[in-house]
This record gives sequence, structure tokens and C-alpha cells, in this order.
Amino acid sequence: MAFILAPFVVAVLATQAYCIPTSKNLRRETAVPDFVNTYAPIVYLHSTENYFPSDLGAQLANTQPQTDYQVVEGAPSPLTLDNLDSLNALNGSNIYLTSIESTTSIPTPQWLKGVIPDSTGKTNGAVSCSIVVNDYGNGTVDAFYMYFYAYNWGGTVVDFDFDDHVGDWEHTMTRFSNGEPQAMWFSQHEDGESFEFSALPKYADGLRPIVYSANGSHANYATTGTHDHTIPGLDLPFGVALVDYTDDGYMWDPILSAYYASVSFAAGATTPVFAAYDTVTPVNWLNFVGKWGDEQYNSSYPGQYGVFGEYRYSSGPTGPEDKDLNRGEGTCPSGDPAACIVLPVVLPGEKV
Ligand SMILES: *[C@@H]1O[C@H](CO)[C@@H](O)[C@H](O)[C@H]1NC(C)=O
Ligand SMILES: *[C@@H]1O[C@H](CO)[C@@H](O)[C@H](O)[C@H]1NC(C)=O
Ligand SMILES: *[C@@H]1O[C@H](CO)[C@@H](O)[C@H](O)[C@H]1NC(C)=O
Ligand SMILES: *[C@@H]1O[C@H](CO)[C@@H](O)[C@H](O)[C@H]1NC(C)=O
Repeated sequence: MAFILAPFVVAVLATQAYCIPTSKNLRRETAVPDFVNTYAPIVYLHSTENYFPSDLGAQLANTQPQTDYQVVEGAPSPLTLDNLDSLNALNGSNIYLTSIESTTSIPTPQWLKGVIPDSTGKTNGAVSCSIVVNDYGNGTVDAFYMYFYAYNWGGTVVDFDFDDHVGDWEHTMTRFSNGEPQAMWFSQHEDGESFEFSALPKYADGLRPIVYSANGSHANYATTGTHDHTIPGLDLPFGVALVDYTDDGYMWDPILSAYYASVSFAAGATTPVFAAYDTVTPVNWLNFVGKWGDEQYNSSYPGQYGVFGEYRYSSGPTGPEDKDLNRGEGTCPSGDPAACIVLPVVLPGEKV
């Protein structure tokens, strides 16, 4: 049978090969648009940073999925970036990728510290950035540069540390119009800021914008200096708020070690559909709806404390799929476009 059918199959394949350029199943673009790399941010990490950008795969290798502090039954082993989303069927958003080692042991487990970028800005051996591109098909393209760190050090208020957690996803998003960068969103804790692209400081090539990542918290700012930020929902009695610090300590070029994927949404749908730009990039992990670090330790955990609902150790974050990748008109996440103000200038002392 196979022998007899072979010429027919070859003929069909040949016909299909001719059909490929007009196939409706083909994605709109087959390669990452050049401008996504040309105008990609350069990130400066703080000079006293201890928790550097980290490898996505290493996060899986050093954790196990847990719900209510119990290991989830039936999870694939090993967990990989290709099968991580199979956890969604096992209790999705209640799953926490939980450190196997104690995160508070001394010395601090090495994997939590990530990888210091080399002199070219590359995090060698660590894919620590995920670039997700939403092409709206009308000339507007949003490029999300998602920065991954294995650990978040939340900062100190009058000798008390707050908001330390395993796993930290931060991002900037650049909006392009017909290949030209227009505006950029900077994630900062629960919120963030947008600036006109032309207002942002640029790297030596005059093209790439500079992003300053705050010490420990990795919130993104457009300037160096001190940035006060209030703890959501907490009115501190001592009149001292948490402060972010940025400077040009270590240069990190996130695109030197990154995964690239496109994202699209069916009409009216809110579930993102991810596709890799090539056949080797893992993409299934982007669908994972659980948390990238330990669940907030309960009161029996050594050193855990809470002050007005803010804890020393808090829970790990959700991943890229939860960052509102379909912003449409505004540049801010899940926002009312009118409230998404795009600032025309970068002023020193922002957010004070
Ligand atoms: C930066 O974070 C480290 C903890 O990782 C902390 O010890 C250090 O004091 C912080 N630097 C500043 C300027 O707050
Ligand atoms: C899923 O997680 C929730 C919250 O932790 C828990 O109450 C529930 O029992 C879990 N469901 C299953 C099927 O494990
Ligand atoms: C508190 O957390 C520990 C793990 O750190 C867990 O073994 C224990 O069951 C938890 N207790 C409660 C009441 O959830
Ligand atoms: C492009 O499409 C997005 C999504 O439909 C829409 O929000 C946006 O306003 C459009 N932009 C232009 C310039 O037409």
C-alpha cells in the first residue's frame, strides 16, 4: 500500500509546497520584527544588587509544584519549559513552584542569586528574558520585554524587611507604530509608568532606551536615584515608606539570552495564544497560570512576620500570561485607556 501511494503523497506535498505562501494557516509574521531588537531596552542593575537575572529552566529544576504546602500529585517529572503548562489541569492558579531547598538557609542558595551579566551584558548560561510580541495587525505592535529574577528582596523599613519572595517577573512594554517606537511602559510593583519613547534616556547607540532596575525589587524606572513607593494598602505608622534605589551598576543586555514568542487573541477572547518564532524555542511554559515561587510562608515559618497585612515573606508572582498582553489603546495593564497617561518628559525624583 505505502509503495503504491508514495507517488501520490509526493504529488500532494509538492502541491502544498506551492500553496504555502497563501495558506490562511500561516502566521502573519514568520520572524521577530527587526525593530523589536533594534529598540530593545538595555537594563542597568543596581551596584549593590544581590539577586540577578535568572534562568527560567533553573527555576523549574530547583522547585517542585505545591498547593497548600503539599507536593502536587501527578505532575510530570522532570518539569520542563515544554510541559510546565500541564500543571494547569492539576489546580492551575493554586500551584506554587516551591523551592526544594530552604530559601532562608545561610549562605543563601546560589540559584536564588541568578547570574551576573558579563562585560557584554549577557547572562551566560541563563535565559532570563522572554520577549512576547503582540501584532494587532493594524500597524500597532506591542513588544513585551519580560525580565526574570529567581528572587525578590523587598526592602527594609526601620529594620524590618518586607516582601521577600521566590520568583520575580517584571517587564517593560514598547509600543510601535509602523515599526517606530512610540511609548514605553515600566512595571513598578502593583503599578507603573508610561513615557513617550523620545523622552527616554538612550544607550550609546542612540537607539536603545535605558531601564534602571531597582535593587532587590527589580521595579523598572527611567532614572537613577531614590524612588519612594507606598506599600499597597498599608499606611505605615512610622512615616517611612519603602524606597527603591536605582543606579548604573551592572549593564544587562536582555536580548543576548532571551526567548521570543508572539501572542495573539481570538476576537473577544481573553486567553492568550502563544507561538514561537522558530522550532526550538520552548513556548508551552508561557501558558502556565500558577505562581513562579513559594506560597507566602505561614506563621510557623521561622522569621515570618506581618505588619498591617504586609509580610516579611510573600508569595511568588504569576508569569507573563497574566500581564495583560492585549492592551489595545492604552499602554498600561488592564487599565482604562484614559488613565494610562503617557508622560512626555522624564523628571529626576519621579515617584517621590
Ligand atoms: C540592596 O539589596 C541588598 C540585599 O540584597 C541590601 O543588603 C542592600 O543594602 C541594598 N542596597 C541599598 C542601597 O539599599
Ligand atoms: C486546589 O487548591 C485549592 C486551594 O488551595 C484547594 O482548596 C483544593 O482542594 C485544590 N483542589 C484539588 C483538586 O487539589
Ligand atoms: C505551614 O507551612 C508549613 C510549610 O512551611 C506546612 O508544612 C504546614 O502544614 C503549614 N501549616 C498550615 C496550618 O497551613
Ligand atoms: C489597533 O488595534 C488595536 C486592537 O484592536 C486597537 O486597540 C488600536 O486602537 C488600533 N490602533 C490603530 C492605530 O488603529
